[in-house]
Amino acid sequence: MSERGISSAVIRRLPRYYRYLGELLENNVVRISSKELSIRMKVTASQIRQDLNNFGGFGQQGYGYNVEYLFEEIGKILGLNTIQNMIIIGAGNLGQALANYDFDRIGFKVIGIFDANPRLEGLAVHGIEIKMVDELEEFIKTHEIHVATLTVPKKNARTIASQLEEWGIRAIWNFAPTDLHVSDDVCVKNVHLDESLMTLSYNFRNRGKEKYSYHSYMDD
Ligand code: NAI
Repeated sequence: MSERGISSAVIRRLPRYYRYLGELLENNVVRISSKELSIRMKVTASQIRQDLNNFGGFGQQGYGYNVEYLFEEIGKILGLNTIQNMIIIGAGNLGQALANYDFDRIGFKVIGIFDANPRLEGLAVHGIEIKMVDELEEFIKTHEIHVATLTVPKKNARTIASQLEEWGIRAIWNFAPTDLHVSDDVCVKNVHLDESLMTLSYNFRNRGKEKYSYHSYMDD
């Protein structure tokens, strides 16, 4: 449960709503009923109504949902209506791939990339020069950082996470395959692609034997 008493399952579904509504908007769809949305998203219409009722509803009896309004409201709930600054620590394969990805689309702006390897110093990734990790503390103290992305080897991840907390970072997007030891004041989201792949492997091997749909989503 979140502080507002909203279940984490509901919160996990919000980005999917946002994505589907964004696609509807691109296709110039003005309004949609919860039934139509449910068919597209493969969740029940009552699930959609229940989920959105957590935030006040947004729908009108007999009209359904106004797509643009709902898209914007869900965006606000997710904090996507403002620019959020992000830094990346660990400018190896994954760090560089993430830096090159267009997170601006959802309001996240990479403003700093840091590494410990002097050979990477000054190399530009997506227009941002990699800085050395000893400049990190000063950078954090002089910039407003909303999210720190951790793409360093496992052995160094916990130490860096503790430093990030000490320097005031309150949201860590962790790709290192280890649990970070930070206080409850710090939000951590772990991303483990290999776990997703393992689930796919299980589902593939057990297809036809289970009741649930195999079209699952990360974090389901
Ligand atoms: P990589 O070896 O290409 O990059 C790691 C970078 O971190 C290197 O440039 C290294 O110099 C830097 N580094 C090491 N210690 C540091 C420190 N104390 N401060 C700053 N930078 C430091 O490795 P790759 O492939 O980019 O993977 C990075 C991390 O992401 C690893 O922990 C890996 O296991 C993990 N990973 C996670 C995935 C996921 O799905 N969660 C997928 C792929 C990788």
